[in-house]
Amino acid sequence: MAVETLLADDERQRLLAQYAEIAALAGGLAHEIRNPLSTINLNLELLAEDVEGNETPREHRMLQKIRAVQRECRHLEEILDEFLRFARLGEIELVDCDLNQVVRDFIEFYQPEAAQAGVEISPHLAPDLPTVRIDRALFRQALLNLALNAQQAMPKGGLLELQTRWRDGHVELHLIDNGSGMDEQTVSRIFDVFFSTKPSGSGLGLPTVRRIVEAHGGRVEVESAPARGTRFTILLPPADRV
Ligand SMILES: Nc1ncnc2c1ncn2[C@@H]1O[C@H](COP(=O)(O)OP(=O)(O)OP(=O)(O)O)[C@@H](O)[C@H]1O
Ligand SMILES: [Mg+2]
Repeated sequence: MAVETLLADDERQRLLAQYAEIAALAGGLAHEIRNPLSTINLNLELLAEDVEGNETPREHRMLQKIRAVQRECRHLEEILDEFLRFARLGEIELVDCDLNQVVRDFIEFYQPEAAQAGVEISPHLAPDLPTVRIDRALFRQALLNLALNAQQAMPKGGLLELQTRWRDGHVELHLIDNGSGMDEQTVSRIFDVFFSTKPSGSGLGLPTVRRIVEAHGGRVEVESAPARGTRFTILLPPADRV
């Protein structure tokens, strides 16, 4: 048993090192692509300005094509930005926190956008939760990714419940929406990098959530039913076990 654990640990270290190298390479590549892309964008803008105003029908068609290429450029830029954020989580700074307070702060921050999208937020925060260790900025990013997914799954508005619990040695946070839900096949792919069912989704939201939560020593679970809704659960170890 001990040998097995040792080997698994060794293998894990090797994989982690390999992963870090690939992430650094991919991050570098994304960065290199971003610069020429912004030059392309700038030149397209100049081209559009040259053609714009009193265009002939031919110039009008040209302008429409330029705008279409510009939109694609912007989309690529967004994907690269998000990828860079994903690849470079960087150092995390864990501090002792009350998860309920973190959730309350998040709700305050997200409430205006939720209200605009017709999403009602309903918090159920358990009293006397053990302290957890959290990097507030990163954790907020994870919560925002989850909340935006829920919001996008409820295009006509809906209910987003945020529940905290202390169970089986974990501090849990549940985000439950009553949106479109997902079939099993979709659920099996949602943590794959670049998997998205949205026309302009980068598919990096959930892989980022998972990386952030794992960097906190936790894990993410999901349950979903088509047309019923989805529950994401973040499980964190109490501070005295990190
Ligand atoms: N709460 C949810 N309800 C229904 N489907 C969901 C939910 N959360 C995630 N999904 C599905 O998982 C996919 C992957 O989500 P993820 O956040 O990684 O990428 P995305 O939202 O498509 O793009 P983005 O990078 O902009 O977040 C989504 O495209 C969607 O199909
Ligand atoms: Mg998303």
